[in-house]
Amino acid sequence: MKILSIIGARPQFIKAAPISHAILNRKNEGSGLREIIVHTGQHYDSNMSEIFFQELEIPYPHYNLGVGSGSHGCQTGRMLEKIEEVLLVEKPDCVIVYGDTNSTLAGALAASKLNIKIAHVEAGLRSFNRQMPEEINRIVADHLADLLFCPSQSAVDILGQEGISHGVHLVGDIMADSLAIALTQIDPRSQIMKRFGIQNQSYLLATIHRAENTDQPENLKAILTAFQFLKEPILFPVHPRTRNTLEKLEYSCPANVKMIDPVGYLDMVQLEKGARMILTDSGGIQKEAYWLGVPCLTLRNETEWGETIKSGWNQLVGLEADKIIRAIYSLARPEAHPNLYGDGHAAERIVRILTESGNSI
Ligand code: UD1
Ligand code: UDP
Repeated sequence: MKILSIIGARPQFIKAAPISHAILNRKNEGSGLREIIVHTGQHYDSNMSEIFFQELEIPYPHYNLGVGSGSHGCQTGRMLEKIEEVLLVEKPDCVIVYGDTNSTLAGALAASKLNIKIAHVEAGLRSFNRQMPEEINRIVADHLADLLFCPSQSAVDILGQEGISHGVHLVGDIMADSLAIALTQIDPRSQIMKRFGIQNQSYLLATIHRAENTDQPENLKAILTAFQFLKEPILFPVHPRTRNTLEKLEYSCPANVKMIDPVGYLDMVQLEKGARMILTDSGGIQKEAYWLGVPCLTLRNETEWGETIKSGWNQLVGLEADKIIRAIYSLARPEAHPNLYGDGHAAERIVRILTESGNSI
């Protein structure tokens, strides 16, 4: 069976790594399973792309389509055209798409037009906010997919409410697999905290990159105003989208905020683990905060990861500076920490289901 995986953005490299390894393991057992990796080129800076291939030992992509940045239509259109060319040459049995980026949308559309089977990893997630480009991407990918790999029962239920029940599998969250592997690899002697002059449990870690926060300067300004009134140091690995906006705003960084370039995954996990609290609008980081037992404030008005909110470890704080400041000092660590989103063995399940489904997907 020939599988073609389409990835292009930072979280997709992290999600794809355990699956690529599980496919390689099966291949070595003589299963006939093999994977072609297509990188759309949506993310291209070395600290947004190459570093993850190196650290996570993801096989080098067979194709890099080099589409780069652009408006949604332009970027997705370029991907669609180039992915179709690859699919016509490779003729895979199944295409895997991950998450909810424009690379997910283009991969699912290109495969569906050629009647190639589609597997969607991280299916069934919804924010119920169609202003978000990601919401459109995930709805389309789910409705085109033949195999839908869900991280939680609520994701399965959402698909059911949209009339999708065939091919739906509750496998757990693939990012739990990635994190479990990273935790065996991070070096306790890592110099990352020393490098940034911070100490365990005495700093906050922040990331912001959502379009609704970066493209509306008033939202970004509200978040940064809150940061400025905090006493603790805030380490802020800045996504390139956010850096662009900050440069346009001519933002000058307050003394307690340390803006750094995006870091690799192993350093990021180390920084998450050491933080007193995480402030983020990232989907992946909300879950990592939960798994690592670090309280999290989500700088948005809704989240796809509702179970983390119900658990009390994550709070949806919105975008008003005073609310953010109050929440930072009031969010307590709940006593209970139930298991959420699976057991870190999603990749094995996904690859087994793909293999067993074979031509009958
Ligand atoms: C994309 C995804 C988002 C995901 C995020 C993960 C879409 C619609 N959005 O958002 O769901 O959470 O990736 O990080 O697919 N840029 C660089 N270098 C890079 C990559 C981007 O400078 O390597 C800059 C460019 O100016 C670009 C901007 O960042 O225009 C935004 O990049 P893009 O891939 O369009 O969206 P993200 O905000 O990264
Ligand atoms: N991440 C990273 N380095 C960084 C910031 C994030 O390795 O500087 C990782 C993070 O640990 C998580 C993933 O990138 O695994 C989340 O990606 P991102 O926030 O870009 O996208 P989202 O999850 O919101 O789609």
